Amino acid sequence: MDKNIEQIKKEALKELKAASDPESIKTLSVRYLGRKGLVTQFLRSISSLPQEKRADAGKKANEVKKLLDTAFKKALKALEATPAESDDRIDVSLPGRVVKRGSLHPITQITQEICDIFSRLGFDIAEGPEVETDYYNFEALNIPKNHPARDMQDTFYISKNIVLRTHTSPTQPRIMEKRKPPLRVIAPGKVYRCDSDLTHTPMFQQVEGFLVDKESSFGDLKGILATFIHKIFDDQTKLRFRPSFFPFTEPSAEIDIGCVMCRGKGCRVCSQTGWLEIIGAGMVHPALFENVGYDTRLYTGFAFGMGIERIAMLKYGIDDIRKFYENDLRFLKQF
Ligand code: DAH
Repeated sequence: MDKNIEQIKKEALKELKAASDPESIKTLSVRYLGRKGLVTQFLRSISSLPQEKRADAGKKANEVKKLLDTAFKKALKALEATPAESDDRIDVSLPGRVVKRGSLHPITQITQEICDIFSRLGFDIAEGPEVETDYYNFEALNIPKNHPARDMQDTFYISKNIVLRTHTSPTQPRIMEKRKPPLRVIAPGKVYRCDSDLTHTPMFQQVEGFLVDKESSFGDLKGILATFIHKIFDDQTKLRFRPSFFPFTEPSAEIDIGCVMCRGKGCRVCSQTGWLEIIGAGMVHPALFENVGYDTRLYTGFAFGMGIERIAMLKYGIDDIRKFYENDLRFLKQF
């Protein structure tokens, strides 16, 4: 071993300075620190030195080995961190990448709009469970077992006494039980019926509304619903009340609006009648008040329920309810 370690170190550092790409640094590293590298060879040769020089030479050689190793690694890292010149330039004239924004589902938008309108009329917003007991879905609403009205709503049964709620009306007895009048509540949510075609999906959404107070009349119901219809459609929308039947209201009515498509002239959407049925309503049946422990001599109330998809379909001119639940972005993007 003719070169001393100081000399090896000097040469290595000089060569490193001249190296300009990762490849040549790696080659240098092998040349000095590899298995047959110059530093390695020097270390091996120490055993042939006279006894008194070994310790000192070994110490120095190890220091150089460490120093070079660090220097090579550092140089390599610095080169890798600096991108090649061509990647470095930014073309400030390029247009930015457009980030696509999502939007609320049309049904969510309509639900919020409906809740906003009723909020301004003093109604609280509440919710009830979608998995419901037979009691709240039927019994408490004056629909006893074997009542023909149960056939109106093809029910999904979870077990003998548990169902997927077929309407939002069970929120009425649930909330009445928990609170005391005066009550003004609006309760939107999903409901389920075993039914599927152009105008029915097995899951759809309803809004339930009800008011209980010492003095509440059919006239109040009419005023509230007229205000609502004029806000959600427009001031020109006509409305009519038709006698109907629901077990949980007496008297009961169905509310039609003048067809928003043909303005009453008669078209396919309104089956040439000029009218569209959109809300079920009535004065709360005393049996319901008895079920929740309200004094029927003190309190009266009214209730109403409507399908949200139906309102969205009429508002946006959509003819197939299934479009809301197919997740077709071309459809959803329009809202
Ligand atoms: N629950 C009824 C249905 O799903 C709609 C309804 C009718 C709700 C009359 C009411 C009401 O609150 O008073 O068909």
